Amino acid sequence: MEIDLNINGSPHSVDVDPSKPLLWVLRDDLGLVGTKYGCGRGLCGSCTVHLDGSAARSCLLPVGTLADRAITTIEGLGDGPDLHPLQEAWIKEDVPQCGYCQAGQIMTAAALLKRNATPTAGEIDAAMRGNLCRCGTYVRIRRAIQATANGGMA
Ligand code: FES
Repeated sequence: MEIDLNINGSPHSVDVDPSKPLLWVLRDDLGLVGTKYGCGRGLCGSCTVHLDGSAARSCLLPVGTLADRAITTIEGLGDGPDLHPLQEAWIKEDVPQCGYCQAGQIMTAAALLKRNATPTAGEIDAAMRGNLCRCGTYVRIRRAIQATANGGMA
């Protein structure tokens, strides 16, 4: 089935089973491999993208339900060649260790700052709770979010 998608502000057309999860369409059909597979069950957050500006688990989204929705992946988070302020903060705070979960972490954090530009530490922890990091980079993640919230940049 031919499905028209709006990804990172550009139209894409894919011919796939409508039940195929967005995660696999992004990675396998469109080559957008910044979005990562972790659990495939909505439990880890590594596959997080934005759907109409809100954080969403792409492993749980049948692509056939997404026509006319605005999908943003980590590849489209910045402004053209410019990184998103959170990405700058991630670099400055040296957040990643293995790095695998970090795209999902940043996408969840970006959705948080979009709806709450000055979150408290508790609000950050609550928003980020569903994004797991096996390296335990949580303290640096919180610091990078706070730096972005307080200064607009790292
Ligand atoms: Fe989607 Fe884990 S891969 S939440």
